[in-house]
Amino acid sequence: MRKILVATQKPFASEATTKISKIFEKAGYNLIILEKYQEKSDLITAVESVEAIIVRSDIIDAEVLEVARNLKIVVRAGAGYDNIDCKTAAEKDIVVMNTPGQNSNAVAELAIGLMVYISRGCFNGKSGNELKGKKLGIHAYGYVGRIVAAIAKGFGMNVFAFDPFINAVIIENDGVKACKTAEELYSSCNYISLHIPANEKTKESINYNLLSRMPENSILINTARKEVICEKSLLRILLERPDFKYVSDIEPDCKNEIIEKCEGQYFFTPNKMGAQTAEANINAGIAAAEQIVNFFENNDITFKVN
Ligand code: 3PG
Repeated sequence: MRKILVATQKPFASEATTKISKIFEKAGYNLIILEKYQEKSDLITAVESVEAIIVRSDIIDAEVLEVARNLKIVVRAGAGYDNIDCKTAAEKDIVVMNTPGQNSNAVAELAIGLMVYISRGCFNGKSGNELKGKKLGIHAYGYVGRIVAAIAKGFGMNVFAFDPFINAVIIENDGVKACKTAEELYSSCNYISLHIPANEKTKESINYNLLSRMPENSILINTARKEVICEKSLLRILLERPDFKYVSDIEPDCKNEIIEKCEGQYFFTPNKMGAQTAEANINAGIAAAEQIVNFFENNDITFKVN
């Protein structure tokens, strides 16, 4: 009997786990669930004999892959797979997949929610600002970026986007202004919402050159990854410009300095909660489970990323 592990430090909603269990039960696989584990050693012990793993942001590094001698496939139930050592996995013939689009709506709704929250002074009862009529720049027009654009248009925002991998015609067909460069996007918009993945090219790419172009009373919204921000530049801009605000679903490493010196200019969620909805968990969890069954039963590698 194939052994499948769901290893989630941040557990799925219980409905998602129930649905995942049913899929594997039907396939005749044995499911092991490791939730809310505290120590890496717990993960190491759990992976030893399994053939497939479903994770969220859980770190699957070379050490974990080394121990998992029967492992054939790792599915990241979500979009970003920067938590998985894809290179080592490939060397060991282990397939890595993600479940693109399955949790995007949850992340997009949070991005909009953060925009409203910070614009209304974190609901402090004082006079704030509306989103209507403001210019929103979407940095990367993928699954999440597109939903953010659609919702923002409902708020009456003027939406811009920059994505070097998407044809401008596709962007403009959505009623969104396609910018030719990131510089143009940052110069044009008072709200910038980040939807770029974290990889070697994007790490620390949101730097002073871009941030300093944003007009007066600007807000940077990060529901992507903390690694894409150059924190030195972020701190510099927050200190130079009291009109600049940063809201993030990820606490930056320089959090304490921001809290100490930049009162009223920031908000961070206590833990990454963009995809933390029952709907997102169910969508991504079911997709991950079905991808594993399809991989073993039909050699389907459609969502392979390594
Ligand atoms: C993703 O990459 O899919 C999101 O960042 C969600 O991550 P999570 O599953 O750890 O909440």
